[in-house]
Amino acid sequence: MFILSSLKKFLPGFHLYPNSGRLNDPNGLCYFNNEFHIFYQNNPHSTLKRECYWGHYSTKDFIHYKFQGLAISPNSKRDQDGAYSGSAIICKNKLYLFYTGSVKHKGNYDYVLTGRESNTMRVESKDGIHFTNKKVIFTNKDYPSNLSLHVRDPYVFKEGQNFYMVLGARSKDNHGSYLLYSSKDLEHFKLVKNYKSKDLGYMFECPSIFILSQNKIYSFSPQGIKTESNRFKNIFSSGYAINKISKSNYIEWDLGYDFYAPQVFVDPKGRRILIGWAGLEGASYSYLEEKEGWKHCLTLPRELKLKNNKIYQQPIKEITNLYQKFKNANSYKGKRFLAKFNITKDTQVILGNSLVIKFNKNRMATHFKCNGANRPDRKYNIKINKVDIIFDTSICEIYLNNGEYVFTTRIYSSNPGVVIKGSKSKIAEIKPASFK
Ligand code: FRU
Repeated sequence: MFILSSLKKFLPGFHLYPNSGRLNDPNGLCYFNNEFHIFYQNNPHSTLKRECYWGHYSTKDFIHYKFQGLAISPNSKRDQDGAYSGSAIICKNKLYLFYTGSVKHKGNYDYVLTGRESNTMRVESKDGIHFTNKKVIFTNKDYPSNLSLHVRDPYVFKEGQNFYMVLGARSKDNHGSYLLYSSKDLEHFKLVKNYKSKDLGYMFECPSIFILSQNKIYSFSPQGIKTESNRFKNIFSSGYAINKISKSNYIEWDLGYDFYAPQVFVDPKGRRILIGWAGLEGASYSYLEEKEGWKHCLTLPRELKLKNNKIYQQPIKEITNLYQKFKNANSYKGKRFLAKFNITKDTQVILGNSLVIKFNKNRMATHFKCNGANRPDRKYNIKINKVDIIFDTSICEIYLNNGEYVFTTRIYSSNPGVVIKGSKSKIAEIKPASFK
């Protein structure tokens, strides 16, 4: 049974939210048996983190979603404290899910070098819905000895005849790291690379490697990078590097308050599609839907394109099909809409009674008057010529310059709508998706 939507005023209309309880990272994105599968970290019993299962939606069109129940439960000795993040891979008509089995021992431990297990696990399915045959692929003693006990989030992909698995890690001397393994059979894995970053924090979470226009893209969520004037404003970052990882060529996926741990998959048409978690753990601000008994949602699926050494993101075509007719208008009352305009002079956008955003050609600045649940003021000095604001009830994704930058935030306005001052804009209502 889906959460009763009439009682929950913050439930989005076309962004995925948990069937019940809490959601965090998107997991196991794939196309199998003629439909897309979107799994996610889920505590079905509460909005608190504590228990981690894999929730599961399927969809044929990113508009009609079906909740398929819990795909993985933390019910074995090797994953009893959480079926943590991971990915999906198809081989010989079976869908395999790889994930991290988390175990935390009771006692006086630091849970970095002692007291924790991070097991790489695998389950399999013939129908894409029911998963069996839980197997342990690695325990901590199998990982290189320079690493702490934080090793997790397997991302498995195929290149040529070989499978590869990348795992995020924290080295014993606190550097963000990843491991790359290769395999012929998805059961035996050989270490190919043990990478340790110099200056990109103490831990990489949710790493992935994929090809975009013949370039190798490294995507990861590093923890522990200090804020700089124009980047790393969130407590934890998520970004990518093209062909080679270094701090200077690391670009954040999203500049907003609420974005983390994205996953990218390749669909049957060859599109590279990214979905992120529109949330963050440990931030100073909060998520008011918790009062309604649910917490967090995913970002829209975004198609990735490489242009001028940067990755541009745009909502996939299926989502843009939900847009209704555009009208020339500078204001709108309603909770699902897209407003778009060009920046030729100073422009102010007021979302509901809540968020004020000032744009000019060289800058974007946000200020919550209220209903931002403590999201602080934020400024980015960036060149801006075009703005698309996608608003969905309690989440807003702002695409700048056709997706050169994206800014995602949650927003809890009591009277949703928009007023745009300074630039002429076009506004369209967005139809809701269907969740069953
Ligand atoms: C990222 C993360 C992952 C982990 C999962 C647990 O948000 O911390 O590293 O697998 O969440 O829910």
